[in-house]
Amino acid sequence: MSSEYLLEVNNLTKRFPIKGGLFGREVGAVKAVNDVSFKIKRGETLGLVGESGCGKTTLGRCILRLLEPTSGEILYNGQNILNYGPKEMRELRRKIQIIFQDPYASLNPRMTIGSILSEPLRIHNLFEGKKERQKRLYELLDQVQLPKDALNKYPHEFSGGQRQRVCIARALAVEPDFIVCDEPVSALDVSVQAQVINLLTDLQKDLGLTYLFIAHDLKVVEYISTKVAVMYLGNMVELAEASELYGDSRHPYTKALFSAIPVADPSRKTDRILLEGDIPSPMNPPAGCHFHPRCWKATDECKTAYPSRTDASGSHYYRCYNPIN
Ligand SMILES: Nc1ncnc2c1ncn2[C@@H]1O[C@H](COP(=O)(O)OP(=O)(O)OP(=O)(O)O)[C@@H](O)[C@H]1O
Ligand SMILES: [Mg+2]
Repeated sequence: MSSEYLLEVNNLTKRFPIKGGLFGREVGAVKAVNDVSFKIKRGETLGLVGESGCGKTTLGRCILRLLEPTSGEILYNGQNILNYGPKEMRELRRKIQIIFQDPYASLNPRMTIGSILSEPLRIHNLFEGKKERQKRLYELLDQVQLPKDALNKYPHEFSGGQRQRVCIARALAVEPDFIVCDEPVSALDVSVQAQVINLLTDLQKDLGLTYLFIAHDLKVVEYISTKVAVMYLGNMVELAEASELYGDSRHPYTKALFSAIPVADPSRKTDRILLEGDIPSPMNPPAGCHFHPRCWKATDECKTAYPSRTDASGSHYYRCYNPIN
């Protein structure tokens, strides 16, 4: 039985302990992800935005179990993967893949593209025969629009955009259902960014993929995402359909973040909201709502406890005592 949602994350928390002193005792913790919940439907893209250090990568890595969450639940196809043993994890590793920001750092410079793409096929025992494997490699190159002769070349012989295509092909090799894209275009030239984004959306349509798309660039996120989630200091402060969030955000942080996007359409122009102060440390976040010291709508209530979730409409929710309406 498959549920409507491919991925469902409930109350996920990840803390990194900080060891110190003579005996290496735990002296504190970085609260990288706090009580985060969201769902992604099959074939959809959830965009994940927020300033540097707010916990986007940590969240992505927890979903792949590259990091063990401190608490919470991750349901994939309705099953909690945190209870999976090694055998089930092995099968899951085929289904969930990740693409990173820096395509050069994630490719072994001493391996040809052919061996890079063959590796996942070998690890997961796909395509025994040489001929069959060759056919699959050509198919993968074709899917990411790279020429056949790429197989015998090395990563340094390619441009940044082409290298990211190689990384995408490597992720596709094992026929995944779900891909965590961790800032896949942030390191690329703007002109190349659009090509890679279009490739990802085409692949999504053709192969029925589901994405968690992490990015800094809000324009890119709006373009690619079905829904968008905003994080601030480890917390998911707002989540909504992409169009709804851009037009009708409720959380002051979302409003401030989106007011900084340059727009071509004058009817969409809003006054830019400049936030005062720096992002506090996730080791020692402010009491109550972590955003309150920088928030122009903050009241005493905001300093007491973290606001619980308010459902606005449909899948739109926010965590704020004094939302914008
Ligand atoms: N292995 C680790 N050990 C200790 N702290 C960590 C570790 N990995 C991440 N952190 C901390 O957790 C917090 C969240 O980091 P994370 O990399 O998830 O942020 P991010 O939103 O992906 O940032 P960026 O936009 O810069 O990529 C940061 O304060 C970071 O320093
Ligand atoms: Mg990151």
